[in-house]
Amino acid sequence: MTSKAPSSTSYLLLAPIAVLLLVFLVSSVNRSGGGSDGLGILCTRRAVAGNYTVVPEEAPNKPELSLLVGILTMPKLRERRDIVRLAYALQPPVPAYARVDVRFVFCSVTDPVDAALVSLEAAHHGDIIVLDCTENMNDGKTYAYFSSVPRLFADAPYDFVMKTDDDAYLRVPALVEELRGKPRDDVYLGWGFNMSGDPMLFMHGMGYVMSWDLVSWVATAEEILARNDTVGPEDLMLGKWVNLAGKGKNRYDLKPRMYDLNWDMDNLRPDTVLVHTLKNNRRWATVFDYFNVTQLASHLP
Ligand SMILES: *[C@@H]1O[C@H](CO)[C@@H](O)[C@H](O)[C@H]1NC(C)=O
Ligand SMILES: *[C@@H]1O[C@H](CO)[C@@H](O)[C@H](O)[C@H]1NC(C)=O
Ligand SMILES: *[C@@H]1O[C@H](CO)[C@@H](O)[C@H](O)[C@H]1NC(C)=O
Ligand SMILES: *[C@@H]1O[C@H](CO)[C@@H](O)[C@H](O)[C@H]1NC(C)=O
Ligand SMILES: *[C@@H]1O[C@H](CO)[C@@H](O)[C@H](O)[C@H]1NC(C)=O
Repeated sequence: MTSKAPSSTSYLLLAPIAVLLLVFLVSSVNRSGGGSDGLGILCTRRAVAGNYTVVPEEAPNKPELSLLVGILTMPKLRERRDIVRLAYALQPPVPAYARVDVRFVFCSVTDPVDAALVSLEAAHHGDIIVLDCTENMNDGKTYAYFSSVPRLFADAPYDFVMKTDDDAYLRVPALVEELRGKPRDDVYLGWGFNMSGDPMLFMHGMGYVMSWDLVSWVATAEEILARNDTVGPEDLMLGKWVNLAGKGKNRYDLKPRMYDLNWDMDNLRPDTVLVHTLKNNRRWATVFDYFNVTQLASHLP
């Protein structure tokens, strides 16, 4: 049954999450430049559903390392987004030298019910980016994402931009630690895939990181459009863009610290950077258990 006004029951159910998010809001509002205690899921820079509205940071001290994490997902997957928000919120804090912003990324929301609900979600959480594209996975959404980011965040570029999925658990401090000592240019990092003996790895779609200069290049590279290379398996295509252009020379393969969770869920490892294929709640619960997130939660008041 649908109704226009949310019932009071749904507010009650949301209360614990709201309290949690409020804590992050408060801690990020008074953030003093470089160091961020929270993940910056809610921060002053937000992209709002509909048209992009980017509010500039007020007097930021540039952190040693900044990373934008874009989670490509779809409007209907609301429950999954709640789990993913918890996954990012209930992690050890991002090291003080880094700033990490996490955003959910949609194509334009055409269904009127989804559009109404997404606009509420965007207003409440401030963690949603809506791109000018039609919802899809292998039909140009990744291109739309990377080619829009330089414009959306032109006033405060990130050092690194990541694409990941809504079925991936990313351990942000572990990734940030990996990125810290890396160059800030021509970087292409992820789970390297060696396609039919090609010595140039491309990075699996579970999650990969490009430096800002590479992302800016994607936004202007007419050759990608001229070849229709926006369409096709998104991770392979992205590998093709950078390989044909001779870019991404600083290429890092994070195997085995990034991986797919196997069928029996027995291949989790303590030094995980990212674990993928968390396609149902049971798999998320197993991962939360393994990384002691549930233990942590049981100590909360
Ligand atoms: C945030 O800063 C304002 C002004 O500096 C201060 O009044 C407020 O108490 C601070 N809030 C928190 C949660 O620290
Ligand atoms: C988006 O921008 C266009 C053109 O500037 C405008 O006509 C439209 O009303 C805007 N939409 C929203 C949702 O703000
Ligand atoms: C990719 O595979 C080929 C053939 O198996 C191998 O010679 C090459 O070293 C591999 N490249 C990388 C970067 O692992
Ligand atoms: C790209 O796609 C368009 C539209 O489908 C087509 O007209 C054009 O020939 C294609 N270009 C290439 C290089 O394949
Ligand atoms: C979880 O906690 C247990 C007990 O404290 C510890 O032995 C284990 O290493 C922790 N697991 C991870 C992945 O940190």
